[in-house]
Amino acid sequence: MRGGFQWQWCGVAMKCPCAYAILIVTGVALGQAGVPQAAVGQTLNDGFAAMEQGDFFTAFTAMRRLEQAGDPHAARLLEQVFQTPSVQAAAAPVPPVTAYARPARPAPAQSPRPNQRPVLTPVPVALPVAAPPAEAPGRAALPLPPHDLPAPLSGADFHYSDPLLADIGRLLFFDPVLSGNKDTSCATCHHPRHASGDGVSLGLGTGAQGLGPDRSPEGARAAQRRIPRNAPALWNLGAREIHVLFHDGRLEKDPARPGKLLTPQGPLDYMVLDTILSAQALFPVLSAEEMSGQPGENPIADAVADQRVHGDDGAWALLAARVDALEPYNSAFTALRGAPGPLRMDEIANALGAFIAREFRADQTPFDLYLRETGAMSPEAGEGMRLFYGRANCAACHSGPLLSDQKFHAMGQPAIGPGKDRDAEGYTRDLGRGFVTLDPDDAYRFRTPMLRNVLHTGPWGHSGAFSDLADFLRHHLDPVTGLAAYAPQAVLPELAAAEDDYATIDNANARAAISDAAARDMAARPLVTLQDDEIALLIAFLGALSDETALAGRSSVPESVPSGLSVDR
Ligand code: HEC
Ligand code: HEC
Repeated sequence: MRGGFQWQWCGVAMKCPCAYAILIVTGVALGQAGVPQAAVGQTLNDGFAAMEQGDFFTAFTAMRRLEQAGDPHAARLLEQVFQTPSVQAAAAPVPPVTAYARPARPAPAQSPRPNQRPVLTPVPVALPVAAPPAEAPGRAALPLPPHDLPAPLSGADFHYSDPLLADIGRLLFFDPVLSGNKDTSCATCHHPRHASGDGVSLGLGTGAQGLGPDRSPEGARAAQRRIPRNAPALWNLGAREIHVLFHDGRLEKDPARPGKLLTPQGPLDYMVLDTILSAQALFPVLSAEEMSGQPGENPIADAVADQRVHGDDGAWALLAARVDALEPYNSAFTALRGAPGPLRMDEIANALGAFIAREFRADQTPFDLYLRETGAMSPEAGEGMRLFYGRANCAACHSGPLLSDQKFHAMGQPAIGPGKDRDAEGYTRDLGRGFVTLDPDDAYRFRTPMLRNVLHTGPWGHSGAFSDLADFLRHHLDPVTGLAAYAPQAVLPELAAAEDDYATIDNANARAAISDAAARDMAARPLVTLQDDEIALLIAFLGALSDETALAGRSSVPESVPSGLSVDR
């Protein structure tokens, strides 16, 4: 296993083949340059010692001190080893590591509604920092970090994505023709403008207009309910390692039957699906709230309501026929398969999967470059990484090259909005994995998200309950304490028909159910306490998981789509 921070530290240094040599050369040069030898020696020693322990921040500070002592070589060193532009000496101390500003959201228009909290403005709340570990029996015996760093991602980790197929997928992804009422596309909730999510806690599907926080119900078929879960970003879903999809993993590779899938619609063996990601594209179109619409509104919604999904008169066949009737799609698919149609739904799904895999691949982040030894992270991010793989124990779950164990954990996220069902007292709830396996031990467990581009994909959590990442992380460390202190900060589009979105979290019993599940899962790992500045370092590391090229978009939003329907831009 290639682990260990000392080795990885050398990984950074490899950028310029031997940082040690440079440090020594610099030390000599400094002595010659008239900088007091003792001070230089001490600073260099500090730097060396810090490097031995992989302590980025101290090594960096030592470098800065040398630079401030007037040494031109230190400036070069900062650039080469840390990729940090040299700051003109004395004026600039070490950059503060506590500041983190979330990207500003456009100020939402407030319209007061009776009996409902104002929900559009995220309220920044400071949650109490977790108390030191109580005497929890058995905790001391648990295995402690550090964790090894993952192997770097490479091209071989991703499925091949046929560019011609992906080009058709791009048009389909932005084309509202896939929704029953022709008003909602995949991009409505997974828009490049919102880092492949929708920028809100719980979005609105069919029967609304606009994007993200600006989306609002409209027309005779206006949306009546929020989508019960946060629309996840789509980064790196084309990786071969992916074996579960959705927050609750209700689509997964069947562990018992290689090559087969467990799906909400039973076996799909009659289809030819390229990847699990392709298979996923079959499901949003069947969701009344997301895309298909209500019975009576269109034939696809009627088929879904009658539980006609498979077969010649099923929702999928109706949808495929609708797409096939559009000449540009028909001819593109004909050219691709080298024979005339009719177009099948699995071909549509494969095109969408190919597009998502190509467009939303994020493996060129500073962290990825660092792992490949082709670049470095900022010192703050380096320190954050040490915490992530060390004392903060994040890598216990955010593990492997994709930063997810793809398993399910109860992290005590506050329930917001309509949920998936109701508890005995009538409060809405979302049992997550428990709703899929019907195993009480899985209640309130959700899949560990992969964290690439996570700074851009808020609000966070499966219900989007947090719009402040520092608050999210404090809650994440100690969900039981966090849940009791949670103050509403979801970002929700206006929806007059919505019930009180926070009713569940305001009810002691409903909240206790979530909290108890989190406490049960907490018992299996050490309670971690972090100071605010350490949270800031973790956020700096999460920032080093941003792939700017991917965020900027590999292809553009199409000017128009074959259906001629309007495109969300
Ligand atoms: C109305 C909003 C909405 C629309 C439209 C929508 N999605 Fe989603 N998407 C979601 C939500 C919410 C989830 C999470 C659902 C869950 O986990 O239960 C999701 C999950 C996914 C996932 C799984 C991500 C993961 O990490 O497991 C993929 C892939 C995806 N959508 C692709 C698509 C495609 C392709 C389309 C168009 C055919 C589409 N979505 C249309 C909201 C939407
Ligand atoms: C016990 C497993 C576990 C540990 C330990 C853990 N996480 Fe998580 N993390 C999860 C799960 C599960 C979720 C999704 C929770 C939900 O939505 O209900 C999550 C969600 C997140 C999210 C939000 C992602 C999103 O897209 O909404 C971030 C950010 C995050 N974790 C970072 C961290 C950091 C940083 C640490 C270390 C301090 C950490 N996690 C420790 C399992 C874990």
